[in-house]
Amino acid sequence: MKKVLIVGVAAWFAASISAFGASGADIWKANCAKCHGADGAGKTAMGKKLKMKDYSAEAVSEEAVAKAIKDGVKEGGKVVMKPIAGLSDDDVKAVAAHMKSLKK
Ligand code: HEC
Repeated sequence: MKKVLIVGVAAWFAASISAFGASGADIWKANCAKCHGADGAGKTAMGKKLKMKDYSAEAVSEEAVAKAIKDGVKEGGKVVMKPIAGLSDDDVKAVAAHMKSLKK
């Protein structure tokens, strides 16, 4: 009986983790840090090439993050950031919150 309860709790716990998805920090690390840098400062090889802004110094709105992820970012008619596929609305919110938290 006790064993059944433990298995049940473990299954519930696993299910709740996947329901919440990855954290904003994880999404940032997996999808954004290679260009924007782990700290958002854009001091990566790619960031230097693309003249990246420093998002540890400059605030971004949730709308700007959502738009950048959905539509990508163009500068002078050239795509500098491609749309990032595979993120849910909740993922976008989480990563936007993480990006805001990078500002010192
Ligand atoms: C291929 C490199 C690359 C990746 C990967 C990337 N970005 Fe960008 N991003 C850029 C460049 C280049 C710009 C434009 C220059 C700038 O604003 O610093 C930009 C701009 C932005 C902007 C500003 C848009 C605006 O309105 O000014 C936001 C917000 C942003 N990125 C968020 C993200 C998030 C969140 C991720 C991950 C889900 C991500 N980026 C992944 C290269 C990238």
